[in-house]
Amino acid sequence: MQLYTRDVGGGTPLILLHAFPLSSAMWLAQREGLAARFRVITPDLRGFGGSPLGADDPSVDVMADDVAALLDAKGIERAIIGGLSMGGYVTLALCRRHPERILGVVLADTKASADPEAVRHSRVRTAERLESEGNVSVLLEDVLPNLVGPTTMRQRALVYGRVRGLVQSTPPHAAAWAQRAMAARPDALGALSGFRRPALVLQGAEDTIATEEDARAMAGALPNAELIMIPGSGHLTAVEQPQLFNEAVTEFGTALARTAR
Ligand code: MLT
Repeated sequence: MQLYTRDVGGGTPLILLHAFPLSSAMWLAQREGLAARFRVITPDLRGFGGSPLGADDPSVDVMADDVAALLDAKGIERAIIGGLSMGGYVTLALCRRHPERILGVVLADTKASADPEAVRHSRVRTAERLESEGNVSVLLEDVLPNLVGPTTMRQRALVYGRVRGLVQSTPPHAAAWAQRAMAARPDALGALSGFRRPALVLQGAEDTIATEEDARAMAGALPNAELIMIPGSGHLTAVEQPQLFNEAVTEFGTALARTAR
């Protein structure tokens, strides 16, 4: 599957994988703020934005293989891979399936554990509604309210409006496919102790979808990880606190590029 991709800047390649149910449009501030230092590549994961959905069964492994194929297509041997939430699940699948392509990882507002049974069921119910209704009402009702934190709701109306617009433009069938893929994802925590590349774990202090406990579990399991909490942000740290997010990634990526030389 060839993913639609925005590719800006120059330097160490940094691939950023977006959250659900958004698209590469969420990385606007990263394309602007990080391109002076990195080659920032932001694909639309399959079905989202400009990328086709294809006919494969739902799986985060399929999404990870799409990203490995993107690296092949661009002639990039190794890159820093960063993923936020669903993008983090895909990053963890890349760690499992294509570790040789990874210089280091940024795991933002995500978790390595599989879903409990009740969450899996609720994802399947959401997928069924998306498919039967053919619109994203269920996402606006159930997902959007938790995407940004109370500070953004109080102080950053434009940010919330932008996120709402992105959710509204999500194709329902892609969202259903991704819900089924996330429901089926395996536990990734057990394998983290074998992943020796540097990792940066970023966590919004007000995030209720992925919690500080999830972030600490990943940082604790990874042999070479640093955890940074982002204040005044809910689940979408890269969108809600872009400056803090970009500073953390710049520092991490710059140190990584130095040692990788
Ligand atoms: C996301 O932001 O990508 C989603 O909240 C992930 C999820 O539903 O687990």
